[in-house]
Amino acid sequence: MKRERLDKILANMGLGTRKEVKQFVKQGMITVDGQVATDAGMHVIPETQEIMIDGEPLIFKRWVYIMLNKPPGVISATEDSRHETVVDLLPPEWAGRVHPVGRLDIDTEGLLLLTNDGQLSHNLLSPKKKVDKEYFARIRGRVTPEHIAQFAKGIALDDDFTTLPARLEILSSGEISEINVTIMEGKFHQVKRMFAAFDLEVIYLKRLRMGPLVLDDSLALGEFRELTDEELASLGGGSSTTA
Ligand code: URA
Repeated sequence: MKRERLDKILANMGLGTRKEVKQFVKQGMITVDGQVATDAGMHVIPETQEIMIDGEPLIFKRWVYIMLNKPPGVISATEDSRHETVVDLLPPEWAGRVHPVGRLDIDTEGLLLLTNDGQLSHNLLSPKKKVDKEYFARIRGRVTPEHIAQFAKGIALDDDFTTLPARLEILSSGEISEINVTIMEGKFHQVKRMFAAFDLEVIYLKRLRMGPLVLDDSLALGEFRELTDEELASLGGGSSTTA
């Protein structure tokens, strides 16, 4: 377990900026193991030592795992000079701590995991782990069983990259078709490029699932919640040692 500066712990938990939490210490509002803290830079092990703020215990959580239903128009990044980012949607106690696990295009909606667990993030994104990702899409044009067969073989994309086999399911076929597709990689614009290889345009894209993690359909666009213990266990998270 890591010893950390008291002001950093308090700021990371969203109590205020470093400057503000230093003031709380100055005002004698913070106790550590029952003693009033006088030095904002004192080192504390937040898992084992009891920190109180104005008599209220601080519930410390080192690892944060958030499921977001990403709305269109926001960027899957922690900062951007032009657009709102997915972390801008979160409250301050989380926003400064987490990063998105992979990227969805600005116009793509749906499941996005945000965490400060670098190990879990790596495991989910590593091409070696072949974590499958399922999307719902609306396609301009007719999707046919022939496409299902082609997707199952893997699609040669425009830059000489051939995808791994993908599972395509047709929900409806017509001038606008609706499909579910499951892919095992996460190349830039991958789903759009797989359909573009057949001159088909993805006009709506939503991620439904990443490995065992399924988008909670009670979350409206832009809404988020922490993962449940079951969801976290299914991903193998919570025991990582990297921040
Ligand atoms: N494939 C895409 O084309 N876009 C996404 O956002 C995700 C997968």
